[in-house]
Amino acid sequence: MSEVATLQLIGLMIVGSGTLILLLIRAQFARVIGFVGIVLGLFTLVALSVPQMASLPPIEEKFDIATVKTPTDMAAIGQKIFFSKGQCALCHTIGPSESARCPDLKGIGAKLSREFLFESLTQPQAYIYLDYRHGGQPKEYPARMPYINKNPIGLSKNEILSVIAFLQQMSGEPISVNVAELEVPGQTLVAPVKVAQSGPVDVVQAH
Ligand code: HEC
Repeated sequence: MSEVATLQLIGLMIVGSGTLILLLIRAQFARVIGFVGIVLGLFTLVALSVPQMASLPPIEEKFDIATVKTPTDMAAIGQKIFFSKGQCALCHTIGPSESARCPDLKGIGAKLSREFLFESLTQPQAYIYLDYRHGGQPKEYPARMPYINKNPIGLSKNEILSVIAFLQQMSGEPISVNVAELEVPGQTLVAPVKVAQSGPVDVVQAH
């Protein structure tokens, strides 16, 4: 018998004994106990009839290379990552938004080269894109672009390539990331993400 069914049986037994007490016993004190038993028992039964839902963490997106055949497949995975594990959508919008705290990424795949996109994700401090949405001096955005290849987001190289494919696709650009570039698990022992050499943090103004 399932746990819920056991508890329901106990609840029914309590309600039953309460009813018996009310029917058969005249003593005031016992009747009060019986009444309380019925109320509590019914309450339990109602609570147990609510469908039980286990709240499990979201299922991890599995990156199954075997199913990825075309750059469009990569972009589709990249889109999922953008809105889930990559957490990009927490900060970025695709399309203008008044309340955006971070750059709008609409058309970013056309604006930035693939190498620059890669650097933006893995060396976010190498080149800081400033906020130009108001008059006067451009300001830094209130948030900071996190290292996408490090914890807590920690995307793998394959995942980063897919996100780049998605950024290019949604900007109407040809996807320049190739399926052959994906690392097949087991073939590489460590997957060091190739990063451009960067010196100390430079704040560069874009024009
Ligand atoms: C905590 C907020 C935050 C998250 C999460 C985040 N970003 Fe950013 N991102 C920023 C900020 C702020 C900037 C602008 C400053 C800079 O260039 O570092 C930026 C800049 C960028 C740029 C460069 C924009 C330009 O015009 O040069 C790209 C591309 C980018 N982010 C992509 C992504 C992607 C893809 C993800 C998810 C994998 C992501 N970001 C997650 C805050 C965030």
